[in-house]
Amino acid sequence: MFDVNKIRKDFPILNREVNGKPLVYLDNAATSQTPQQVIDVIVSYYQNNNANIHRGVHTLSQEATDMYEQARVKIQKHFNAAQAHEIILTSGTTHSINIVANGFSALIKKGDEILVSAMEHHSNIVPWQMLCERTGGVLKVIPMNQEGELLMEVYDELLCEKTKLVFCNHISNALGTINPIEEIIEKAHSVGAAVLIDGAQAAPHVIADMQKLDVDFYTVSAHKICGPTGVGMLYGKEAWLHKLPPYQGGGEMIAEVTFEKTTYAGLPHKFEAGTPNICGGIAFGAALDYMNAIGFDDIAAYEHELLAYATEKLLEIDGLKIYGTAKNKTSVISFNMEGIHPYDIGSILDKLGVAVRTGHHCAQPIMDFYKIPGTVRASFCFYNTKDEVNALVDAVRRATKMLS
Ligand code: ALA
Repeated sequence: MFDVNKIRKDFPILNREVNGKPLVYLDNAATSQTPQQVIDVIVSYYQNNNANIHRGVHTLSQEATDMYEQARVKIQKHFNAAQAHEIILTSGTTHSINIVANGFSALIKKGDEILVSAMEHHSNIVPWQMLCERTGGVLKVIPMNQEGELLMEVYDELLCEKTKLVFCNHISNALGTINPIEEIIEKAHSVGAAVLIDGAQAAPHVIADMQKLDVDFYTVSAHKICGPTGVGMLYGKEAWLHKLPPYQGGGEMIAEVTFEKTTYAGLPHKFEAGTPNICGGIAFGAALDYMNAIGFDDIAAYEHELLAYATEKLLEIDGLKIYGTAKNKTSVISFNMEGIHPYDIGSILDKLGVAVRTGHHCAQPIMDFYKIPGTVRASFCFYNTKDEVNALVDAVRRATKMLS
């Protein structure tokens, strides 16, 4: 039984005040809060098990190694990857995408085409532009409509034998659109292109099944799903991970080193140079345990209700415009008040205890598309309440009055 009041007790930060007002935390698309259960795992790790992994013969090192590798298996099972070594633990989505972009340097030839959606985060644009600069590849954009939905008929036209890679987010961080990734993947594969799906914004809301999707690469950041910052996942199909060269050189990623030649370790270690975020990886696993104990079906149903309620209440405010009205969307609302800069609204909201993000949300092309400098973005998590939505709506009304 989903009980938001009980769930809120797991998050100590939700009890604090900001500027003398109860915190209303609505910046979950930037980072989610951390439940006590995950904080406990982090504290306990440093109190009891802290050691470097895969290196020591001593007990602590073996314990830490076991905990880290068990977390990898938890992540594998959660995303239904066929094998644990297809899960590369990274510092987050940006790192994950850069591993793939770097790896494709040797596989992309001049004139090869790379398709990217119009609603990507900069982290799923810039690495591919850099790849194109290195290789002579050509970046093409799958456009979107005013609602913030991809124009799939144009995608069909863009796909051809020159298409080598397709990149798209599962859910847009700026608009909340849930993209039709099943169709995107299937169609890309029909012309022999590989697909990377950025799952950073999807992981808090839905479970993506790697085998069912048949996706080539999928990326996630733990801090969006109640875990710590500085850790994330790159899922890659085994065959692709074998094909790509390592991203960073260093300890842990080698089989043998001489001054003449180095041979690389097998998967997943080939992509995990240096001492990783060990505690972060373990806490990533604990965060998935926490969310699975609540249940993703209940989370999705509750967030959907919050989204519908917040959309309805916000639209009652005169002059408020929502950007991103896709039929299939998740609990992100980007909006502006007519004639008022989003930053000004966000600053007053903060004074009233309401935390939102303002600006371009690392998705400048979306803002250019709508010809706006940015938006105010309220993003909801399963621990938010309708009372908090009411607090947001009141705060926006007050801010608007002060700024008009
Ligand atoms: N990508 C994060 C966001 O959308 C930081 O806010």
